[in-house]
Amino acid sequence: MSSAQPLTIAVPKGRILQELQPLLARAQIFPEESFFDEHSRALKFATKDPMISLIRVRSFDVATFVAFGGAQLGVCGSDVLMEHDYADLYMPVDLNIGHCRLSLAQPKGYAAKSESHVRVATKYPNITQDYFAQKGIQAECIKLSGAMELAPSIGLAPYIVDLVSSGKTLIANGLEEVAVITQISSRLIINRAAFKTRNQEIAGLIERFREAVNAA
Ligand code: PRP
Repeated sequence: MSSAQPLTIAVPKGRILQELQPLLARAQIFPEESFFDEHSRALKFATKDPMISLIRVRSFDVATFVAFGGAQLGVCGSDVLMEHDYADLYMPVDLNIGHCRLSLAQPKGYAAKSESHVRVATKYPNITQDYFAQKGIQAECIKLSGAMELAPSIGLAPYIVDLVSSGKTLIANGLEEVAVITQISSRLIINRAAFKTRNQEIAGLIERFREAVNAA
């Protein structure tokens, strides 16, 4: 890519946008107004700096866009990075936003038997299988993209592995958290090849994000 083209930063849509707004401002990145409008159907946004543009994509896709060079930088949850383990990504800054946890949950009061095989509904089959394998249990994962919390009540699987923030979704669906698998936060991610070819520009942006986090 010629250095005359803008750098693209991929960011996840959804609730993280509110936390991202002050962080971007402290990093001196000022997106066009519609970027923070969740109802806007646009996917690509300009910023005040003609050399920086933003794309707004699904959280799991941020890592894919950056790993394959569709964007040079991204803001990505550590859950996604753990699940995919992309070798082409460099993760220099913990942005200290998007805090939540990845947890195992079951129906409230569920009497778990000692099992060598369990069924789990999740968006995170790799993390889930590793977690259960460490306990000598084989996890059969039913991969869903959302609404995992429905799975136990409709007989799909007794367990779910999903993100928990306030815990309200679990409670509203009659579930209880039984183990925290890992704590999550958002990371700044960089495409390694782009970091080599556009080192000065990207290193400058990394520094701006680092300062923005420290100033928070
Ligand atoms: C996430 C997650 C849970 C919920 C947990 O979904 O998958 O369903 O948030 O949050 P809580 O503990 O505060 O209730 P999100 O709302 O981001 O939507 P998604 O299902 O599209 O991922």
